[in-house]
Amino acid sequence: MSRPVFAQRVSRFGTTVFSEFSALAAKHGAVNLGQGFPDFDGPDAVKEAAQRAIRDGVNQYAMGMGAKDLRLAIAEHSQRFYGQQVDPDSMVTVTSGATEAIFDVLLGLVDPGDEVVAFEPFYDSYDANITFIGATARYVPLRPPDATHAEWWFDRDEVRAAFGPRTRLLILNSPHNPTGKVFTREELEFLGGLCAEFDVKVLSDEVYEHIVFAPARHLRPATLPGLAERTVTVSSGGKTFSLTGWKVGWIIAPPPLRDAVQRAHQFVTFATASPLQAAMAAALRLPDAYYAELAAMYAAKRERLLGGLRDAGLTAFAPQGSYFILADIAKYGFPDDIAFCRHLVSEVGVAAIPPSVFYGPEHRHLGQKLARFAFCKTDAVLDEAVRRLRAKLAPSR
Ligand SMILES: Cc1ncc(COP(=O)(O)O)c(C=O)c1O
Repeated sequence: MSRPVFAQRVSRFGTTVFSEFSALAAKHGAVNLGQGFPDFDGPDAVKEAAQRAIRDGVNQYAMGMGAKDLRLAIAEHSQRFYGQQVDPDSMVTVTSGATEAIFDVLLGLVDPGDEVVAFEPFYDSYDANITFIGATARYVPLRPPDATHAEWWFDRDEVRAAFGPRTRLLILNSPHNPTGKVFTREELEFLGGLCAEFDVKVLSDEVYEHIVFAPARHLRPATLPGLAERTVTVSSGGKTFSLTGWKVGWIIAPPPLRDAVQRAHQFVTFATASPLQAAMAAALRLPDAYYAELAAMYAAKRERLLGGLRDAGLTAFAPQGSYFILADIAKYGFPDDIAFCRHLVSEVGVAAIPPSVFYGPEHRHLGQKLARFAFCKTDAVLDEAVRRLRAKLAPSR
């Protein structure tokens, strides 16, 4: 008798939509606004710092918790932007991207059979990682702006109902992929209150922390009273420094939580690429002007794509942060977002991502009315996408 090849924990995962739509984009010569990585590189000084580190012999295993200088730079950055005091020795672990950090947090803090609360649409690795560790996800949908809500919002009763005696972790992501929502102080305080009531820890995924558009302001949950002692902050340099391929991330947490995550990390990757850690320390120390210019560049790109999508007839929601725009596609009359995105890539020549894959089965229908466009692309690429949409996206079928 032959055994199944796939272990149960991976058996339900097929090819990701990112692979499917990137392949379709290549096949149809489409402009790819699907995958969320920049089509331009990060600062030369940072790339040179990596080359220098390799030349200077920074090529063997780094300390498991992360190179001392990078942990120092992470602490300095936390103080500079959030007034958060971070002890680099007891509160930081460097990981291979935020992706590893998320997995380590779940491994270190959540047991099989526990429940994890998160918002939909979610970043897809949350759902997969919750499956890997044998926990159960309890999802609460974010709702689009409407007559009474200027921004994406959540129903407080729905969130409260998702919490229970088995809840172990709340996953927050602000600025949020893919809605672009930046959670307000009031929202975070409400969520913090629930976490205190149910004794729940928080994973705060802040990889878009520097891509925020005024008047929105990124608030680090770990700096709010009541959240500081229960929050593991996760971030990485991929988005902030346009170096997504480097996969250098980190967690910041109070010592007991850091230790739990570190225990997992030591047996997941043990350590992260040494020369890239050296260069990431240089990146985090770039002057304030770098960070301001990054936000200004993305603010301009947001306007460019938002205006273009709206000119093409799409009902596009303005993001407060991140480099994604969600658009409502219901009026085009396709059965769902996947059919719409397949049409878009093959007939219009623009690749977008169907967001229904970022929802659990119960609320998947909410994502079937949406499409996600990334604006982390050069202006010429954004303009060409808009030109094609205006020329070929018929108002309805
Ligand atoms: C919300 C969110 N979290 C985490 C990640 C992964 O970050 P990294 O590339 O540092 O692993 C991404 C990447 O797209 C993301 O959008």
